[in-house]
Amino acid sequence: MIAIGSDHGGFALKQEIMKHLEARGLEYKDFGTYTADSCDYPQYGAAVGRAVAAGECERGILICGTGIGISISANKIHGVRAALCGDCFSAEMTRRHNDANILALGARVVGPGLALKIVDTFLDTDFEGGRHARRVEQMMALEEE
Ligand code: RB5
Repeated sequence: MIAIGSDHGGFALKQEIMKHLEARGLEYKDFGTYTADSCDYPQYGAAVGRAVAAGECERGILICGTGIGISISANKIHGVRAALCGDCFSAEMTRRHNDANILALGARVVGPGLALKIVDTFLDTDFEGGRHARRVEQMMALEEE
């Protein structure tokens, strides 16, 4: 199950991504926003972050205008590793090396075609483990500070 959420800036792209997930036969849960009306991104970042951190959803996708505010918000939830990606290389590497569990996108930064490729790369790439597991553990230990 994939958790997905956005503010108004990411609303249109969220609809595109959900269509794409449906076409791929992937299940998702939409945490809103549900209209294009102006709203505040932290609550959507937190809602998707909580669902992923709790294990209710394996991965998350978050979208706002830049992807920045919503990824910062999600990363405040313990257990979240949200990565803002504007290219496929970053999406691949953040899965392979950082075991990112949430992808953040900027709808005003990337076009819908590239965004869907980034989504596919993020969802289809596995964590490599090994030395990267140690580093991910070290990152997560920082949450105790
Ligand atoms: C909303 O105007 C915009 O600030 C938001 O979508 C996002 O870009 C914040 O980081």
